[in-house]
Amino acid sequence: MQAQSPNSYPWWHSAVIYQIYPRSFASTDGAIGTIAGITSKLDYLRTLGVDAIWISPFYPSPQHDAGYDVADYTDIDPRFGTLADADAMIAAAHERDIKVIIDLVPNHTSDEHRWFREALAAGPGSRARERYWFRDGTQPPTDWRSVFGGPAWTRVCDRPDAAGSPWENDQQWYLNLFDSTQPDLNWNNPQVRDYFDSILRFWLDRGVDGFRVDVAHGLVKDPALPNFSGDVSMVHGGTERPPMFDQEGVHEIFRRWNAVLSEYPGDRVLVAEAWVDPPSRLTRYVRPDEMHQAFNFTFLATPWNAIQIRETVKESLDVFGQVGRPATWVLSNHDVVRHASRLGLSVTGKGPNGIFASDEQPDAQLGLRRAKAATQLMLALPGSAYIYQGEELGLPEHTSLPDEVREDPTFFRTRGEQAGRDGCRVPLPWSADEPAYGFSPSGESWLPQPPVWRELAADQQVGRPDSTFAFYQDLLLRRKAWNLGEGDFELLDSPDHVVAGISRTDTGEYLLATCFDGTWELPSGWSVVAHSAELSKENNATVLGPDTSVWATRM
Ligand code: GLC
Repeated sequence: MQAQSPNSYPWWHSAVIYQIYPRSFASTDGAIGTIAGITSKLDYLRTLGVDAIWISPFYPSPQHDAGYDVADYTDIDPRFGTLADADAMIAAAHERDIKVIIDLVPNHTSDEHRWFREALAAGPGSRARERYWFRDGTQPPTDWRSVFGGPAWTRVCDRPDAAGSPWENDQQWYLNLFDSTQPDLNWNNPQVRDYFDSILRFWLDRGVDGFRVDVAHGLVKDPALPNFSGDVSMVHGGTERPPMFDQEGVHEIFRRWNAVLSEYPGDRVLVAEAWVDPPSRLTRYVRPDEMHQAFNFTFLATPWNAIQIRETVKESLDVFGQVGRPATWVLSNHDVVRHASRLGLSVTGKGPNGIFASDEQPDAQLGLRRAKAATQLMLALPGSAYIYQGEELGLPEHTSLPDEVREDPTFFRTRGEQAGRDGCRVPLPWSADEPAYGFSPSGESWLPQPPVWRELAADQQVGRPDSTFAFYQDLLLRRKAWNLGEGDFELLDSPDHVVAGISRTDTGEYLLATCFDGTWELPSGWSVVAHSAELSKENNATVLGPDTSVWATRM
């Protein structure tokens, strides 16, 4: 691939996209974050240097899965604000050259969605039930497990709202691949397809720049509903393909959406959340007439090991290159243990589903050191990179939340076996000396923040050259100035404990090197301009220590 000028590709091709989890980003009100809170921090994000934000769901929702249970796709939950607040936020972001991606949740609705209420009321055999997966039977129709734990089928009469209702004795089952409050939609029904076209248009008309598509690999199920008792958290190539994930039929839906987006000016983008491995299988979601990007969870799940990371990077660049789409890179999000903690565990990789106080505790210093090295590696790679709110402050996971405050349905559905995702969703610390570290004017926060976050608050870091925030800011600035996101990246031969590569761009040549353990001497002729940890000198050569990344330019 030739180095290209920054303007020859659409913006998303190499964008750095910052994930906002609206419940926990910033509040202008009480314990839960608000849209106005997002608007109030756009200057902070501009200072950080991101190109776009992706906002997790902000729609009306009973919040049984933190908003991924949508009751109305074309409005804003009053807890977060109003449509007018959303319009103002989108406009304010655009004024600052920040694009706005929102979350689309097409696999399931909330059980409080109008359609599901109609389906319950209309009863078995009704047209209203055909929008979901209702089935008869004395036993659940299949042995499928919910991704959140427990069975994937719920009997209508077992619902908490059944007693005394018209469906009190209704024996039908409905499918819920996630919580029982998240019934799966039936995408074979044309009404479902038309509805989502209209939702896309509603938000495109309001000026959003794209959609992150939740559970993109789940929309279509094998209609024969065969049993499947294997792993449902990630679809692995080569093994038996689960009948509820990664079915051929999903692709025709994305082609249809691609066509809808093409009606609009300005390079709107579709991003697939698809837990599909290996990357070659994932690239089917980003063929030229489908989505534009897909999260590279294989990268996130790769253990902290030079040989394996090198392999993942190589494979990702190869396979995405083959379909002519940029690779993506991500280390943290609202579903996994924050990478500053995950990488401080004795076993690295995708990590556990949350950490209890009684579990092995991450080594905070080691975790942060590795997290910075991993981030610096990621930001040198061509393609698009995703940052999860708070990682720029080096925030660790909250690993001692009391069970009473947990909200993640995975904690409840695994009967407390898994801590769940609350520990990575704790409201951000903005100022060290205010109640709730400045998260809300009322001093409330829907989850308690760990005391170690005080010194990590944004006001302790912004403008301080030795902070993690300044580290991110410097990398983002250089990445943009050098055009690394569009670089032609070549992995170099290096010892087994090192990943090294050269990025060639229209502005020059840049060396990335990460030393995973032991030490490594930088080749002569290169001069370090950014490093994730202190370096040493030996006989005039620069030496990297363990868990250290550098970027260097030609002398
Ligand atoms: C996705 C979301 C996750 C949510 C699930 C069900 O994986 O990222 O937070 O719980 O889908 O919507």
